[in-house]
Amino acid sequence: MNNGFSPQRYLTRFDAREIPHQFADIVVVGTGAAGLRAAIEAAKHCSVLLLSKETCEETATAYAQGGIAAVLDAADSVDQHVADTLKAGCGLCDSRIVRTIVEEGPERVRELLEWGADFDRHNGRLAFTREGGHSRARILHADGDSTGAELMSTLIRTARSSPGIGWRENCFAIDLVTEGRLCLGVLAYDRGGTFLARAHQVILATGGCGRIYRETTNPSIATGDGIAMAYRAGADVENVEFVQFHPTTLYLAGASRALISEAVRGEGGRLVNKRGESFMKNYDLEGDLAPRDVVSRAILEEMAKTRDTSVYLDLSHMNPQEVYHRFPRIKALCATCHLDISRDLIPVRPSAHYVIGGVKTDINGRTTLRNLYAAGEAACTGFHGANRLGSNSLLEGIVMGCRAGRLAGETAAKRKSAPKPLLLKNDREMVAGSELDLTDLENSLRSLMWRMGGIVRNARPLEAALERVRFWQSYVLNRHFTESAAWELQNMITVAELVLRAALTREESRGVHYRRDFPRTDDKKWKHATILRREETRDG
Ligand code: FAD
Ligand code: SIN
Repeated sequence: MNNGFSPQRYLTRFDAREIPHQFADIVVVGTGAAGLRAAIEAAKHCSVLLLSKETCEETATAYAQGGIAAVLDAADSVDQHVADTLKAGCGLCDSRIVRTIVEEGPERVRELLEWGADFDRHNGRLAFTREGGHSRARILHADGDSTGAELMSTLIRTARSSPGIGWRENCFAIDLVTEGRLCLGVLAYDRGGTFLARAHQVILATGGCGRIYRETTNPSIATGDGIAMAYRAGADVENVEFVQFHPTTLYLAGASRALISEAVRGEGGRLVNKRGESFMKNYDLEGDLAPRDVVSRAILEEMAKTRDTSVYLDLSHMNPQEVYHRFPRIKALCATCHLDISRDLIPVRPSAHYVIGGVKTDINGRTTLRNLYAAGEAACTGFHGANRLGSNSLLEGIVMGCRAGRLAGETAAKRKSAPKPLLLKNDREMVAGSELDLTDLENSLRSLMWRMGGIVRNARPLEAALERVRFWQSYVLNRHFTESAAWELQNMITVAELVLRAALTREESRGVHYRRDFPRTDDKKWKHATILRREETRDG
């Protein structure tokens, strides 16, 4: 079915001599926690152009509920946070990265406080909550369960006050422009047409790829564009088999698959089945706060045992006023479906939440392509290993965004001249893609990934899914489209193939990657990363 198909280097035809250039020392793609933090840092050294494919507010960061993990309480310690992170990562964390991020986290959070972030307090002191796998209450939150919104408004306000940052919203980054293994800028598209954002350094902060799954907590922007772009350009993509499934997504016909924060269980909420039985202790000693992968698999098993389409979160034993005060966003969300969270059972089941793997970077966010950096969910630093602790990703985003922004900024500032116009082009023949039903393809892809590349994996279904995705690739990836929805779909198909390939390759179970046919962790063969690299990286 693959027909020897080889996807092309660029998604679209272009001739750099004929399209407008916008020059900046640094282009940052993405306005979530990682991109904004990177831009703020880089702009201390040079000019920055910040791109987002929708408005700058529309990011996964904006939806974060639980909070940011950081060692700010006197009773907590860097060593404990490091130990918890390493334990969750099941042998695949890079311990130097873990220590660096955990050590630098408190400084980054204090900075947010200086910039006006209003995290929740108790008797005037910062309030911390717990999530699964954290041995301490070390998670800061805002407005109860609206941490991401507070983080976004703080970072946007700070970035807007920096004169060195130029903004282009509703602007879609199509591809990285490269010469050999050198990144020269970004081919992008907005209402004015295609243009080249030409820069000394590029930072990808494009977030995750949860939308490749039918069931996901992720907003529509999470289509894996940055990972696909970097892969097409020849960068190493690491550990993408590790997709984290969040156990508790609201499951009501007609309602969006909104997250019900793990902090709900952190504050005392219990998972029960349709008979009202609390079941998590039957699966793990940690009970309701067991690691997410354990809880997700336990929920699937419990759903099968009870022949139900979900399990339920029960908060009815908790003080209603405290519940409403702590989780106002979840209260409002459930109220739209006539559920009172202090009284009614909330139907939940797992869904795709976070991609642990991504574009491989070093401790300063450098990828394996020169002048290309990545940060946040699009990147794989080795911080999370094979499993991510709740609230560790916003932490990673602000620390690594800052590190990448600083190094990219310092490096660009040393360049004596402005970036020069480019003469590159991609003039390969491409078939027009207008007759394809993109919505149908997207639904088929997401359904396939959910059924065959999801929480519990097996060689046969993975192989069948891979064959199907490659077949779709053979008639979708070489088509010429002129709209962002189509490029997103091409990126989703690209990333889905990477996830399936990596999942098939890793013949063991570790962290969030569970193979029913290889249920054990195999340190002898697999205590290392999986790396995917597009071999043919000729331009055009
Ligand atoms: P994002 O915040 O997703 O931003 C991506 C940016 O890239 C956007 O601006 C987007 O427009 C831009 N972009 C993407 N593709 C393109 C393109 N082709 N062209 C131009 N721009 C592009 N983590 C925690 O630590 N704590 C939590 O409490 C928490 N809660 C969560 C709740 C939900 C519902 C979800 C979905 C995730 C949660 N996470 C949480 C995970 C965390 O929010 C994300 O991992 C993190 O916010 C990712 O940040 P980011 O900066 O990497 O990307
Ligand atoms: C949650 O609030 O449960 C999500 C936290 C996270 O994904 O880090």
